[in-house]
Amino acid sequence: MTIRKVGVLGAGLMGSGIAEVAAKSGYETVVREVSDELGRKGLSRIEGSLAKAVEKKKLAPEERDAARGRLSTTTNLSDLAGCDILVEAIIENLDLKKETYRELDRLCKPETIFCSNTSSLTITEMSAATSRADRFAGLHFFNPVPVMKLVEVVRTIATSEETFETVFQFATSLGKDPIRARDNSGFVVNRLLVPYLLDAVRALEEGVGTAEDIDKGMELGCGHPMGPLKLLDFVGLDTTYYIAQIMFDEYREKRFAPPPLLKRMVLAGRLGRKSGRGFYEYGGGK
Ligand code: CAA
Repeated sequence: MTIRKVGVLGAGLMGSGIAEVAAKSGYETVVREVSDELGRKGLSRIEGSLAKAVEKKKLAPEERDAARGRLSTTTNLSDLAGCDILVEAIIENLDLKKETYRELDRLCKPETIFCSNTSSLTITEMSAATSRADRFAGLHFFNPVPVMKLVEVVRTIATSEETFETVFQFATSLGKDPIRARDNSGFVVNRLLVPYLLDAVRALEEGVGTAEDIDKGMELGCGHPMGPLKLLDFVGLDTTYYIAQIMFDEYREKRFAPPPLLKRMVLAGRLGRKSGRGFYEYGGGK
């Protein structure tokens, strides 16, 4: 199947990144948000990232203009009807996702492939809300989407071989280097990453080291670009807490249980970079 038109649901951090890479890769891209204001916010995030790519000499100004020209936003789900593939990156609320998929299943042409960028919810459960479970897969990107090379392409027990191969090729066409994963909560990366991040919070809780020393340990000792607590601030403490809860619910294993300090920081509104404070403070744009 040839993919020409891409629909992206949600213009948040992940959705706008996905839309940006799709448009840069030559696809006509329609982004759907729930309000004009959120659509505009997403577009300005994309424009900022395209400008940074030009500044970093990753993109020529003409390529930026062409990519911008391929992008449009809408608030109507029906504007996604003619898309060949949809990538959903709305909030991690299973009921809302299922309701959205049900509606899209009715609106979209039968060949449209549905993909979810969820990081921990079950793809199978979303696909069961539609009549196209064979044309349904997971397509999990990493933050920041324009920079990170990995995409996890996730197969459920109902995903057809043809759909899986089309989605895998699509991920490659976005300039990514995908891996194959089964539909188990957390797929490959979060299954390994989440217990590590939670363990770093436990280490801090137990006074093993300061936040700075825990991060420095992993940066200089293991060559990680960011230590675990900086990475938690980057991903969002609320997001990680939420993912950990879903994974704990699925596996019932202690390593996925969110530590009390993480919960308290989320309750106190210390969500990381996005709220200006997490394990570190981010005043003055830092
Ligand atoms: N478009 C294209 N390229 C860009 C860009 C943009 N908007 N902005 C930056 N770049 C490029 C730069 O040119 C640079 O490329 P080179 O290495 O070829 O020079 C590279 O991206 C790094 O950019 P910077 O030098 O500006 O930034 P940095 O060196 O400070 O790195 C970082 C920033 C990429 C975020 C790095 O710190 C990093 O890799 N951190 C870890 C991120 C991570 O682990 N993400 C996964 C989170 S988990 C997740 O997302 C999944 C989940 O489900 C929770």
